[in-house]
Amino acid sequence: MKPMRVGLAYNVKRKGGDEDAEYDSPETIDAIRKALESLGHRVLMLEAVPDLAKTVDPGQVDIVFNMAEGTIGRNREAHVPALLEFLGIPFTGSDSATMMLTLDKALTKKIVRFAGVNTPNYKLVRNGSDKIGAGMLFPLMVKPNAEGSSKGITDDSVVDDMAALWRQVRSINEQYRQPALVEEFLPGREFTVGILGNGKALKFLPTMEIEFLEKGVPHPTYNYRIKQDWKKFVRYHIPASMEPPLAAEIQDLCGKAFRHLMCRDVARIDMRLDAVGKPHLIEVNPLPGLSPGYSDLVFIAEAAGMTHTGLVGAILENALRRYGMA
Ligand SMILES: Nc1ncnc2c1ncn2[C@@H]1O[C@H](COP(=O)(O)OP(=O)(O)OP(=O)(O)O)[C@@H](O)[C@H]1O
Ligand SMILES: [Mg+2]
Repeated sequence: MKPMRVGLAYNVKRKGGDEDAEYDSPETIDAIRKALESLGHRVLMLEAVPDLAKTVDPGQVDIVFNMAEGTIGRNREAHVPALLEFLGIPFTGSDSATMMLTLDKALTKKIVRFAGVNTPNYKLVRNGSDKIGAGMLFPLMVKPNAEGSSKGITDDSVVDDMAALWRQVRSINEQYRQPALVEEFLPGREFTVGILGNGKALKFLPTMEIEFLEKGVPHPTYNYRIKQDWKKFVRYHIPASMEPPLAAEIQDLCGKAFRHLMCRDVARIDMRLDAVGKPHLIEVNPLPGLSPGYSDLVFIAEAAGMTHTGLVGAILENALRRYGMA
């Protein structure tokens, strides 16, 4: 790869609470900076705060490695991509439209359904003003419609009756100031699929299964508490062991979702099986975590023989090729 001037757009954790749970730790940002430098690039640090609009200079960067989550609102992940598009600066990963769409889980579900990808029945609910359709069967999953990093997903997110449902809806409406996504619960095995590339040339990394180890939990989920203490609560299997037709179906569905949502360069897609073993899409992450020793995509890449630096390099290279800059 030719040495480049690479801007690194990021949001850093300052408080360590729910508010900046989606942000990267200083160690992760440093690891990505070092990876880019070890590939021979000069790195310009670009913290994604509102001042970025004044400080980013198209004359000073060839491309931006985007890992910025943005600050406020349901379009927050689209803000940095939109600014870079406006300034004509190339960047890694999906464009602003895809970022906006995929942060909105209900909109994502509508689109993937058009592509023939199964996803659980759902309803967007605001406290008191909306009703749950009679077609929705308990247990139900209740989560914020537009958050990531399992924010707002707790041991109480799977509900078995109306009282618990409305308690969760109210809590999400109040805490996150947004509608709750109420979905049919998928009781089967959980997988996550890492994809690198563009268009027809997608590279599927080995599918990872998340096995839940806690005993006596009727409806386990990969929630915030579990992710914080993953070594204790889950076991990862990479590649997941399954029959070849199921493995092929999962990859096919993930490829369809990636292409219909027009993802670029990289994404991680969460899938789970329903009661009869059919795979459904849970959500699409076009900005997957890249923390060494923690993020699913990093483990998946390592199992495929890629180092952390190799993964960062592959994402950058996909973007450079897409812009005809490689
Ligand atoms: N309909 C569902 N049925 C079963 N489990 C679900 C469902 N929706 C979510 N989950 C569980 O909750 C977890 C988190 O949900 P989801 O992936 O939507 O949240 P997130 O905060 O966007 O996650 P990430 O950390 O991947 O960004 C899933 O990995 C899964 O274990
Ligand atoms: Mg997820």
